[in-house]
Order: sequence, then structure tokens, then C-alpha cells
Amino acid sequence: MAEIRYDGRVAIVTGAGMGIGRMYALELARRGAKVVVNDLGGSRDGSGANQSAADSVVKEIKDAGGEATANYDSVATYQGGQNIVQTALDAYGKVDILINNAGILRDRSFLKMSEEEWDLVIAVHLKGAFCVTQPAVKVMKDNNYGRIVFTSSSSGLYGNFGQTNYGAAKLGLVGIMNTLKLEVAKYDIKVNTIAPNAWSRMTADVFPPEFEQKMNPQFNEPMVLFLCSEENPVTGMTFAMGAGWYGRTAIVSGNGVCLGDANRPIAVEEIRDNFDQITRLDDPKPHDNGGSLFTYMAPLLK
Ligand code: NAI
Repeated sequence: MAEIRYDGRVAIVTGAGMGIGRMYALELARRGAKVVVNDLGGSRDGSGANQSAADSVVKEIKDAGGEATANYDSVATYQGGQNIVQTALDAYGKVDILINNAGILRDRSFLKMSEEEWDLVIAVHLKGAFCVTQPAVKVMKDNNYGRIVFTSSSSGLYGNFGQTNYGAAKLGLVGIMNTLKLEVAKYDIKVNTIAPNAWSRMTADVFPPEFEQKMNPQFNEPMVLFLCSEENPVTGMTFAMGAGWYGRTAIVSGNGVCLGDANRPIAVEEIRDNFDQITRLDDPKPHDNGGSLFTYMAPLLK
């Protein structure tokens, strides 16, 4: 098996001080990458800050003979994103790989959710991805190379009680990817999204105790590292995973039905009478861009 290596590559991993992000940082460094270990070091709900999280992972990497630099900025501000990328430029001169992984939780049922709980979660996950990715893409574009991973969640893709804020932010990342992949394709920048599952401080009170071993955060690492490798052939895809299972997931559409002739108005009864066909997903298709939905309308647009 030819080994996948990252020699000469510079990687930024946000939220790499613990949990899943730590796994990415350790393995990227073990395989030759120079790694910026970003972590604000706050608590699970985003309060507080502590440099020891990033420092301890940097120490672990260096003790094992690898190269790493700590950064303690929050991903949630524009300046923080600039500083994170600048840390990579100052230490190693470029950015090849960006794993947007930092995250917090402020769970609350929809009717009880406060504005602060909404704003903070959107700021860290959604705005944070913008704040770090934009300056990173500027550098990647100049070098004609980049690998970017966004961290979504099954909560955003499919739903989870008490997580409207988190779910909205997490699905928003798929939205960033869907357009960013088009804008950077010609620079060999590949952008993908993952929905991980792991035992961490985020899930320790949600998963049953026997999951601690089976949901080891390590199991997410090989998929993400592959997406960050030169060998990765795909962009704009979303992958779900956990416990050693890996699979693609996607926003797909069914064949639907063409009603009318793009001239006469359609009646609500026609929707009722065709509702089974409209809701069917037995021939699902993913799409590379929004415009491709027009292929379904083609018979009407002739
Ligand atoms: P974790 O809580 O162990 O790690 C998250 C890290 O992000 C922490 O080290 C934290 O200090 C850091 N962080 C938080 N806010 C930050 C900010 N503003 N700037 C910089 N760093 C910040 O959580 P875990 O489980 O490792 O999660 C990693 C990512 O995976 C998160 O985006 C999470 O939402 C996502 N995820 C995790 C799942 C799981 O089953 N653990 C499921 C689905 C998604």
C-alpha cells in the first residue's frame, strides 16, 4: 500500500486542541505536514478561553518529531480568521490544507432559544467557516492548490431535537461548499464537507457509555485526511461517518412531474392529484449546481 504523505504541505486545523480536531492534527503531522493547531480553548458552550488546549497538541506533535504551531484566536471573528491564516504564513509561508472543525453547542428547544444562543452558534460554525476560509483561499489560489473540509453534522442534514441553531449553521456549511467549489475549481482547490460522529465532550452526555470505545474520534480522521490529500479526486461532496462506517450523503432530487405547458396556470388540485409522483425519490440525483434542476423543466421550456 503506497503511503499517503503530506510532506511539504501546510495545514490549518481549527478547534484542534481536543476531540476530533486533535486527531487530524496529530496524524497530518505524523505524515509530514506542518500544522497550525488552532484552538480558543473555551468550554463546550463557547464560554471562556484557554491556551493549554492548543499548546498540549503542539507539544504532542513536537515530542513525536513533527512540526506544529499554536494559534489561540477564535474562528468567529473576521480578524480571528485573518490571524489564524497569518500564523500559518508567518511560520510556514503558505496554506495547503484547511480543516474547519471548531465548534460549540448551545442546545435549546426552538421556542425557548434565546437570541444569544442563536447568534453564538451561528457565529462559531457558520461565520467562523467564512472568516477562516476566505483568507486561506486567497493564499491557496495564488499557489494553485488547496484542500478544504467543512464540518457539518447529521443534525443539520437531517435534524436533531433542540438544535435548530446548530442545525442551521451546520447545513449552512453545505451551502458555502456548494458555491465555493464552483468559484475555486480552476485553482485545484477541492472543497468537501463531512458529518462526523465521535465520542467527545460534545456527545459524552448524549451517547450511551458503551459508545466511548466504538465512537473513537480517530475513526473520522482517515476520511478527512484522504479528502485533504493530493489523491482526493472529488470536490463538492458530503460524507457521513462514525465507528468505521463511511458513506456519501447528498441533497438529491427526484424526477418529479411536469404539469401544464408553461403557459396555462396550474391548479392546486393538480398538485394534490400528482402528489405521490412529486414526493417520490426512487431515482434520486445529486446536482453539481442549482442550474441543473432546469433539465427537469426542459420539456416545458422547449
Ligand atoms: P470538541 O468540543 O471536543 O472540540 C471542539 C473544539 O473546538 C474544542 O477544542 C474547542 O475549544 C474548539 N473551539 C470552540 N469554539 C472555538 C472558536 N470560536 N475558535 C476556535 N476554536 C474553538 O468537539 P468535537 O466532537 O471534537 O467536534 C468537532 C467538530 O465536529 C465540531 O464542529 C462539531 O460540531 C462537529 N461534530 C461532532 C460530532 C460528534 O459526534 N462529536 C457530530 C457532528 C458534528
